[in-house]
Amino acid sequence: MTKTTSNAMWGGRFAAGPDAIMEAINASIGFDQRMAAQDIQGSRAHAAMLAATGILTSNDADAIGEGLLTVLSEIERGEFAFSTALEDIHMNVEARLKDLIGEPAGRLHTGRSRNDQVATDFKLWVRDQMDAAIAGIEALIAAFLAQAEAGADWVMPGFTHLQTAQPVTWGHHMMAYVEMLGRDLSRFKDARARMNESPLGAAALAGTSFPIDRHMTAAALGFDRPAANSLDAVADRDFALEFLSSSSICAMHLSRFAEELVIWSSAQFRFVVLSDRFSTGSSIMPQKKNPDAAELIRAKIGRIMGAMVALFTVMKGLPLTYSKDMQEDKEQVFDAADHLMLALAAMEGMVRDMTANRDALETAAASGFSTATDLADWLVRTLNMPFRDAHHVTGSLVALAESKGCDLPELTLADMQSVHALISADVFDVLGVHNSVASRTSYGGTAPDQVRAQVARWKEVLK
Ligand code: ARG
Repeated sequence: MTKTTSNAMWGGRFAAGPDAIMEAINASIGFDQRMAAQDIQGSRAHAAMLAATGILTSNDADAIGEGLLTVLSEIERGEFAFSTALEDIHMNVEARLKDLIGEPAGRLHTGRSRNDQVATDFKLWVRDQMDAAIAGIEALIAAFLAQAEAGADWVMPGFTHLQTAQPVTWGHHMMAYVEMLGRDLSRFKDARARMNESPLGAAALAGTSFPIDRHMTAAALGFDRPAANSLDAVADRDFALEFLSSSSICAMHLSRFAEELVIWSSAQFRFVVLSDRFSTGSSIMPQKKNPDAAELIRAKIGRIMGAMVALFTVMKGLPLTYSKDMQEDKEQVFDAADHLMLALAAMEGMVRDMTANRDALETAAASGFSTATDLADWLVRTLNMPFRDAHHVTGSLVALAESKGCDLPELTLADMQSVHALISADVFDVLGVHNSVASRTSYGGTAPDQVRAQVARWKEVLK
């Protein structure tokens, strides 16, 4: 199984080629070909800089730049033959460049190493995904805002422990997700700003003796500046970890709304109707309309957080600087990015298309003694009762209503006065769900006016 010819790129000191198993475990071309465009972009910036600094002739640099564009178009047209023997995208591109332009191709790697090259390529790839995540989250926020605006005053039960707690507004519940996604947005923006330093020119680990211009390549690749320590530049994968951790938190948020959709679309709740476009049928039960997209979004956190844990585990304890372990970074990030973008897009579609069942929401909001807190607050406000006593009196009224098989608004005034003699008829004003939500006007509260103010604020933020 041993090859007789050594590797054309690094085989100078080797008498024989690698065992086939060695080649298989070593190669990353099967997946890192996804960074072909970034690899060529980085190499073109490097070649242009080598010419500008007089390290390469402009003839050679031009031939390299042109040749790389040809390689890119071959890859884009699907005409490129990727080779496992050439290990990775970097050496596949360079070998093809040599076929195309000959000797100048061998000068491209001056003042550079695959260590700074792969860090640069991967950063460019991850940066694009951060931008895609930011765009996807903004689109999803817009979908939640549309729901919140339409239903700023629709009432629904608010839950704690998944038990009816207090009436809230539909708009307020939608806006809770806007806040969560807003934090996701800021995490991605923050991580993007922090990662935007160029590793290129750190070379293998120590920098280079060639008079390169790292500021020039950094600017050409849209980085804010070159990374300031060459050892750190090739050893750092924080940007990938931050992408994965931001993605994990975002996926966790998506899974929570996905779970609510699964519950809400059930026959027992009927809070929402999902559109046919985002539901599926059952092959055996004709009546079924399943929330498959919501269930799959609920599950995506598994692989996304799994990728985060995997990469943390790979990076933990690695001595500086580059170790081949780090080649295991890419598939995790690729997979997590693909599935995060898919989940964001599917969630946006579902949120845009879903229809709230206002009657079912309101009926549910009015059941389960949801205005018990309003009653207790009335006792405090009107009878100047300490809240703890009011809580106790209200508890007795709930027990009375429960024994009569009714909810609080259906108790008679006589029922009420049997528990506390000073309760008067205007107590009934606070027991209705619409009055309840309208009264919650504290900043960030569920009152429709508060919801509308938050919708307006977010529209301004997103402008
Ligand atoms: N394929 C490698 C990776 O993804 C590229 C860097 C290889 N560097 C090295 N010194 N062998 O990490």
